[in-house]
Amino acid sequence: MLNNNGRVVMISGANRGIGLAIARNLYKAGYSLSLGSRSIDSLKGIIENSTEDRIINCYFDANDKSSHKNWVIDTVNKFSKIDCLINNAGIVESVSVDDEEDNEEALDRMWAVNVKAPLSLTRLTLPYLKKSGSGRVINVASLAGKAVYGSSVGYSMTKFAAVALSHATRHGGWDYGVRCTALCPGYVATDMTSEVESVPIDNMISPTDLAELVKTVISLSNSASVAELIVNCKPDIIA
Ligand SMILES: NC(=O)c1ccc[n+]([C@@H]2O[C@H](COP(=O)([O-])OP(=O)(O)OC[C@H]3O[C@@H](n4cnc5c(N)ncnc54)[C@H](OP(=O)(O)O)[C@@H]3O)[C@@H](O)[C@H]2O)c1
Repeated sequence: MLNNNGRVVMISGANRGIGLAIARNLYKAGYSLSLGSRSIDSLKGIIENSTEDRIINCYFDANDKSSHKNWVIDTVNKFSKIDCLINNAGIVESVSVDDEEDNEEALDRMWAVNVKAPLSLTRLTLPYLKKSGSGRVINVASLAGKAVYGSSVGYSMTKFAAVALSHATRHGGWDYGVRCTALCPGYVATDMTSEVESVPIDNMISPTDLAELVKTVISLSNSASVAELIVNCKPDIIA
């Protein structure tokens, strides 16, 4: 196991949902955090009893490429290193093969946030992750990145791509100690699933359980790497 103390983690979409649960848990475990959100105000005070020496709140908008670069620069200026990147920010919109209206714009929006921004952040942080010798990347993909449900296709396409990005990141960083995991949860109780009726909220995965898994995965030694982590609230493996 690695020693967490002083290791620096960047988390996108850290202001709410799964990202916030991960941030709170990693702070408690001794990590230093660089939190990314498109609203810096929404990050203020979200980590209870935190001290400024261990946290920086940064502007990150998946759709604003200059913010990706500036976030990395600000993180390195503050902490002089990056040990871990958590690509968590994501959106879901409805795009099905049997849609009557063309909704390519919705698909483009999901590609930008769920795939292109994680790739951009991975490229920008990779030199620092390699330098760490035990760099870690978690891509918050989805069970929708492992299986397709009905004719709904857009979100799944982007999450399959996020899993592909994870596998490529493993290859790209492996010889330098970088390890990447595609986290693939089913329904998680966050704002994203607030309108889901098929699974009661109490039966959904808790963001704090996912945060605990992330903490474990990123603290494993270089020789114990989890490529994909499938987490379900149903008996099926990927349904
Ligand atoms: N909830 C589930 O059932 C579930 C299951 C599997 C995978 N996931 C994945 O888990 C990740 C987190 O989702 P969640 O459930 O925590 O959803 P959430 O509560 O809706 O949070 C989404 C996060 O992404 C951020 N975000 C969205 N668009 C952004 C943009 N253009 N630039 C920067 N940040 C942006 C949001 O920021 P704002 O507050 O500014 O909107 C928010 O912090 C996503 O990748 C999602 O696809 C969720």
